[in-house]
Amino acid sequence: MLSPLSLFLLSFLILLHPTLARPNDPPTVCIIGSGIGGSSVAHFLRRYSSGPFSIQIFERNGVVGGRMATVNVSGDIFEAGASVLHPKNFYALNYTQSLGLKFKTPSSSSSNSLSLGIWDGKKFAFKTLLVRSDLPFVDKIVSLANSLLMFLRYGFSLLRMETFVETTVDRFLKYYGSLESRPLFETVDGMLQWAGLYNLTTRTLQEELVDARLSPLLIQELVTVITRINYGQSVFINGLAGAVSLAGSGGGLWAVEGGNWQMAAGLINRSDAALHLHEKIESISYLGDYYELNSTLGNSYTCDVVVVATPLDESNIQFTPQISIPKRKLQHTHATFVRGLLNPGYFGLDAVSEIPELVGTIEDPDLPFSSISVLKQHGEKDMTYKIFSRKRMANVLLDSIFSVRQVTIRINWGAYPHYNAPEVFASFILDGRHLYYVNAFENAASTMETSAVAAENIARLIISRFFNQLPLTSANMSSDSGEQILHLDL
Ligand SMILES: Cc1cc2nc3c(=O)[nH]c(=O)nc-3n(C[C@H](O)[C@H](O)[C@H](O)COP(=O)(O)OP(=O)(O)OC[C@H]3O[C@@H](n4cnc5c(N)ncnc54)[C@H](O)[C@@H]3O)c2cc1C
Ligand SMILES: *[C@@H]1O[C@H](CO)[C@@H](O)[C@H](O)[C@H]1NC(C)=O
Ligand SMILES: *[C@@H]1O[C@H](CO)[C@@H](O)[C@H](O)[C@H]1NC(C)=O
Ligand SMILES: *[C@@H]1O[C@H](CO)[C@@H](O)[C@H](O)[C@H]1NC(C)=O
Ligand SMILES: *[C@@H]1O[C@H](CO)[C@@H](O)[C@H](O)[C@H]1NC(C)=O
Ligand SMILES: *[C@@H]1O[C@H](CO)[C@@H](O)[C@H](O)[C@H]1NC(C)=O
Ligand SMILES: *[C@@H]1O[C@H](CO)[C@@H](O)[C@H](O)[C@H]1NC(C)=O
Repeated sequence: MLSPLSLFLLSFLILLHPTLARPNDPPTVCIIGSGIGGSSVAHFLRRYSSGPFSIQIFERNGVVGGRMATVNVSGDIFEAGASVLHPKNFYALNYTQSLGLKFKTPSSSSSNSLSLGIWDGKKFAFKTLLVRSDLPFVDKIVSLANSLLMFLRYGFSLLRMETFVETTVDRFLKYYGSLESRPLFETVDGMLQWAGLYNLTTRTLQEELVDARLSPLLIQELVTVITRINYGQSVFINGLAGAVSLAGSGGGLWAVEGGNWQMAAGLINRSDAALHLHEKIESISYLGDYYELNSTLGNSYTCDVVVVATPLDESNIQFTPQISIPKRKLQHTHATFVRGLLNPGYFGLDAVSEIPELVGTIEDPDLPFSSISVLKQHGEKDMTYKIFSRKRMANVLLDSIFSVRQVTIRINWGAYPHYNAPEVFASFILDGRHLYYVNAFENAASTMETSAVAAENIARLIISRFFNQLPLTSANMSSDSGEQILHLDL
């Protein structure tokens, strides 16, 4: 017969099982990937739990940040991957502010001042005014005139587009509600459904916008230009990725001065995490009570919890036992940086000054690039440009587009999912135990902020499922002196 005391102890032991059986003391959370996803998991684990545990972060590259990275074009530093944040990207705002980083608004203060042209391969189907002036009132008039030009071409469809974007952004704001108001989500489907965003991932952007009564011309031109710039894809991406993409082309956009990657660096630094640079994880094996991670350096690590914070689609991490996730393809975006000068002849124009600062394109398989934009004007005949394309830009092609080309830097990104509505999602929990996947969220929409939001949910899942702290409420949060109430004037 068991005494009441041993019964009590037994139930206590069962309750504590995961913590008792662990081979590490204190427990170890291993995170694969040092992008905004991995660094956010580390951040929220520390913020929500004061318990003793170690965090190990593995990064195959020599720098942190992943798809937040800068490129050095003959001495000037530009964003090479994720470049802009939305004014309602509240985690990124908090990170930037609490880490003491500086906010930067890309190009000039007025978002309309970048002249836009829509290139169809033969001519500019649409062009806004391009007037360079140092007088602010001229800027205002030009931007007003450009709004008028836009309105004349696309009409009230522009307003309907704005409503569609605002409705979606508002739903997303639910993810910033108080901890008490938000359940934990084990699946992406559940997380999206809770915010009323799931349906958008089951249909294409095109279908959503036709339902919202946008004119075919607006969808074919401006919307297409935007999805091609942001996701390298057509309006057949899913509706949520599409809305996110359109939101990312509005006003108030910002970036971190000196590079967005500094958010990841700061979060990792502040999270008391051991960072293993130049160390690629090759295998993850579940060995009964713990996971064993083997790396390219020949090291083996024992982990109680493993977080995969990188897309698995092109990684060849070997899982034992095997895991099964829905097939997903990555869209490759080639970012080509050129210091030199565009050739007006390529665009059928007489002077470089007639070429819009942002050249967007419509959907046509013969078009060799998605967009070309001016990053910096060094002088009348000396600029730095960024080109996005689906394929590598060959030298002969560049030589026809540019009349001068001093420096060329090419980056081939496994950029974001190739969207395919209806989207099918992997689970946040890959094995029913303590193997988590941040980037399961990415085929809903891929941005810095969505990675952070998915990471926050995963940190809470770990605290609840592994550390047995339930329910997680604000009262359980460790204090974080660095963060203050936001007041921003962007
Ligand atoms: C060209 C481009 C433009 C973009 N523009 C924007 C934008 O303007 N705004 C925006 O919000 N988003 C933008 N995005 C999307 C954004 O970059 C991503 O959604 C986001 O950065 C993803 O962060 P992550 O941490 O989830 O993944 P990643 O940043 O990819 O981080 C994963 C990390 O894991 C590492 N890793 C992978 N495998 C292993 C392994 N086996 N072992 C160890 N380490 C490994 C990788 O090296 C990488 O550092 C853009 C993306 C691209 C490519
Ligand atoms: C950028 O590259 C130049 C060489 O082209 C080098 O002199 C400079 O130090 C680099 N800047 C940074 C910040 O790495
Ligand atoms: C999503 O679609 C389903 C089925 O068509 C519908 O019942 C539900 O109301 C929709 N949800 C939202 C938030 O629009
Ligand atoms: C890490 O943070 C400390 C302050 O907490 C700071 O002094 C140090 O420079 C930071 N290190 C890096 C690499 O950012
Ligand atoms: C990982 O490394 C350990 C120690 O070298 C080895 O015993 C084990 O077989 C390796 N696991 C895999 C999946 O390669
Ligand atoms: C966490 O919060 C819950 C609910 O408020 C409470 O019951 C529990 O005691 C708290 N745990 C700690 C460690 O503060
Ligand atoms: C930003 O930080 C402040 C202070 O810590 C906090 O009150 C607020 O909830 C945070 N916002 C988000 C979206 O996390």
